[in-house]
Amino acid sequence: MKKELKVGIVGAPRGSGFVRAIQTVSETALIAMCDIREDVLNASADKFGVEKRYTEFEEMADSDLDIIVVSTPMPLHVPQSVMALRKGKHVISEVPAATDLNQCWELVQAVRESGKKYMMAENYTYMKPNVLVRELARRGLFGEVYFGEGEYIHELKELNEITVWRRKWQTGRNGNTYPTHSLGPVLQWFQDRVVSVCCMGSGHHYKDPRGNIYENEDSTTTMCKTKKGGQIILRLDMLSNRPHNLTYYSLQGTKGCYEAPRGFGDNHKIWLADYHKDLTWHSLWDFEAEFMPDMWRNPPEEALRAGHGGGDYFEIREFVDCIIKDTKPPVDVYDALDMTLPGLISEESIRKGGMPMPVPDFREIKHFPDDLPKVLQKKRLLSVNL
Ligand SMILES: NC(=O)c1ccc[n+]([C@@H]2O[C@H](COP(=O)([O-])OP(=O)(O)OC[C@H]3O[C@@H](n4cnc5c(N)ncnc54)[C@H](O)[C@@H]3O)[C@@H](O)[C@H]2O)c1
Repeated sequence: MKKELKVGIVGAPRGSGFVRAIQTVSETALIAMCDIREDVLNASADKFGVEKRYTEFEEMADSDLDIIVVSTPMPLHVPQSVMALRKGKHVISEVPAATDLNQCWELVQAVRESGKKYMMAENYTYMKPNVLVRELARRGLFGEVYFGEGEYIHELKELNEITVWRRKWQTGRNGNTYPTHSLGPVLQWFQDRVVSVCCMGSGHHYKDPRGNIYENEDSTTTMCKTKKGGQIILRLDMLSNRPHNLTYYSLQGTKGCYEAPRGFGDNHKIWLADYHKDLTWHSLWDFEAEFMPDMWRNPPEEALRAGHGGGDYFEIREFVDCIIKDTKPPVDVYDALDMTLPGLISEESIRKGGMPMPVPDFREIKHFPDDLPKVLQKKRLLSVNL
């Protein structure tokens, strides 16, 4: 097929993770890259043979592109996505979708008014075990799902000093400041949304190289209540001295349960009442042959080589499909905010000693901020200084 969808990437380091997918997907061609750092831009553009290079995002957004991939630091996701949407581009943005409530609203308005496709690139929802568990949940094999966990444990004190925006936007704020990888897959399994959160932390035990305490408590736990009455527990830890575990999840329903590996020789474990007479764990992979969705049956070589367990390939593939078929993006703007907002609201809860706080549904917001619960109409939540 002709490569008819022209793609530009902003934010060269993370953006490079999408290049092979864009070059592999038959309908897309990578035309342009943008980064304010010319050295970083040229290194990536040379490596991938991209001719058009921009150091000003607006210039790239004005050019003749169909899709823009936003992979700059967190607070830029909304300003750049909004500009691109308003200039008639489809947008796939890195996580999280937004960094305050005003940004959520600006994004929703731009999506509603532009009629262009917006997707948040929540790559953990495409990882092979997460896709299989989603399918089993969708078919009702866990029964009624009511409890889940997601953990993002990723020691990145050193990375904070290299990618300095992390020091402000991830470890410089308190609460679950990076929620989508842990919450995204579990929300899809629940087919539900979070309506309130309480967040508490484990205190401060580390200092940055300047001797300053990290504003984010070392480990924070966010308890989420879902609309259907279930519970999801999120743990975020970017500071503790320990090996990573970015992909621990669990799920409990009336007819079955699942637990991801805790690391070091552990396995994906499942128990389903319809299949297992004994109350012992079995391998998740026993269900692969019968239930694995098509995307993971014969994945292209590129998917297997793509970062984040194939996620970086599949999210581009599915985003392009939704543009071509004019269907709902797999993680559209409202899904993106369902995965992002519990983190933003957790910051207000932890500030208030763990008080439960409501999580708004932006599908229902027509007038902003008047339609928000009064308790959220706080300056620090509405708009964080960039
Ligand atoms: N989904 C995932 O698994 C995953 C993994 C890593 C990072 N991320 C996300 O990707 C984003 C980037 O993370 P990173 O680790 O690559 O950060 P980074 O700091 O390494 O890269 C960000 C790049 O953006 C450029 N930039 C900054 N302001 C810009 C502007 N106004 N216009 C154009 N370019 C600009 C910087 O020069 C830098 O090269 C973050 O939002 C992060 O949360 C997601």
